[in-house]
Amino acid sequence: MDIKQLRAETPGCLHKIHLNNAGAALMPLPVLAAIQAHLELEATVGGYEAHKQKSAEIQGTYTALARYLNCTPEEVALTSSATDAYARALSSIPFEPGDMILTTESDYASNQIAFLSLKKRFGVRIERFANGPGGQIEVGAFNLAIAALKPRLVAVTHVPTNSGLVQPIAEVGQECRKQDVLFLVDACQSAGQLPLDVQAIGCDFLTATFRKFLRGPRGMGFMYVSNRVLEKGLEPLFIDMRGADWIGEERYLSNPTARRFEDWEFPYALVLGAKAATEYMLEIGPEKIAARNRELCGYLREKLSRIPGLVLLDQGQELCSIVTVFHHHHTPEALQQYLFLQNINTSVSGLTAALIDFEKKGVPGALRLSPHYYNTMEELDATIHTLAIVKG
Ligand SMILES: Cc1ncc(COP(=O)(O)O)c(C=O)c1O
Repeated sequence: MDIKQLRAETPGCLHKIHLNNAGAALMPLPVLAAIQAHLELEATVGGYEAHKQKSAEIQGTYTALARYLNCTPEEVALTSSATDAYARALSSIPFEPGDMILTTESDYASNQIAFLSLKKRFGVRIERFANGPGGQIEVGAFNLAIAALKPRLVAVTHVPTNSGLVQPIAEVGQECRKQDVLFLVDACQSAGQLPLDVQAIGCDFLTATFRKFLRGPRGMGFMYVSNRVLEKGLEPLFIDMRGADWIGEERYLSNPTARRFEDWEFPYALVLGAKAATEYMLEIGPEKIAARNRELCGYLREKLSRIPGLVLLDQGQELCSIVTVFHHHHTPEALQQYLFLQNINTSVSGLTAALIDFEKKGVPGALRLSPHYYNTMEELDATIHTLAIVKG
């Protein structure tokens, strides 16, 4: 990996130490160029005409994602965010009173709220599985729960918003396939920093965004919808004229592909930015990215663990590029602001972002540092040094 070259293609690197890739990463130049070029084209020839002119490139977004996810382009849908994708997946499941959603205690807050909303409206039951002593769900016990509880849906967040934990989703997926249970994976924080193979994972739905580790623009998400699900006829509740054709006064015909899950209108400049981001990531290689990030974060965790007053909060057998810490003498917000004033971007995960996990860890929130491959050891050293000299 040519870090120098990658940084030269990342204008934001010049001004800041950006350790907020779990919030939104710095876009590289090809992403920026793709967005700007399409906006200019729209302004010059007209929005619909620009779409027509670039239809092959737009189709390339699906092809690039399909390459990353190991699926067909017909199993990919674009959305406005990860949460949008997740809601579309949930809305396609015809829940009945008493149906169970089996999930985890560290699943994303918006997902938890959506489950609670489904409980309020349809009377579904929610079972939240606790992480085991190793920090992640204990697969044997979780899979026994799938077999015993026969949930309508198993929903697991691959990497939580507030910790470096990587949940063992492929092992869960195997059991879901065995039990013929729907499996929904929130890969919002893993997309772009870890390899994602939906065949190996065995999921029915996988949802994510572009702006985080994929380094795409804000305002675009995507989802994988398996052929299994498409063949079963699942479709989002508010399917529109992109997802279906109105073929009779009382009838519509759903699109056979995952386009069924899309809306008609898209910001195509961002779609092309998303394509550029996915291709950029594929060019570098997901495995190489994961290895580089493991190296950066291993170093960061080791050094941070030596700073008095600072507690590392990440738990799990496999940890990734989200590093969370709590300081005994400073709030996460104060630390974030202090670092920001030193030109270091980080973020804060507050209590309501991960209620159960933070309550179990006994903290009201955490400072979140999320390096990505284009960060350097020198940048990490500067951050470590800045945190080490914060007055107690
Ligand atoms: C684990 C996880 N899932 C889902 C989301 C939601 O993503 P979006 O804001 O694109 O809807 C986030 C955002 O931080 C997240 O961390």
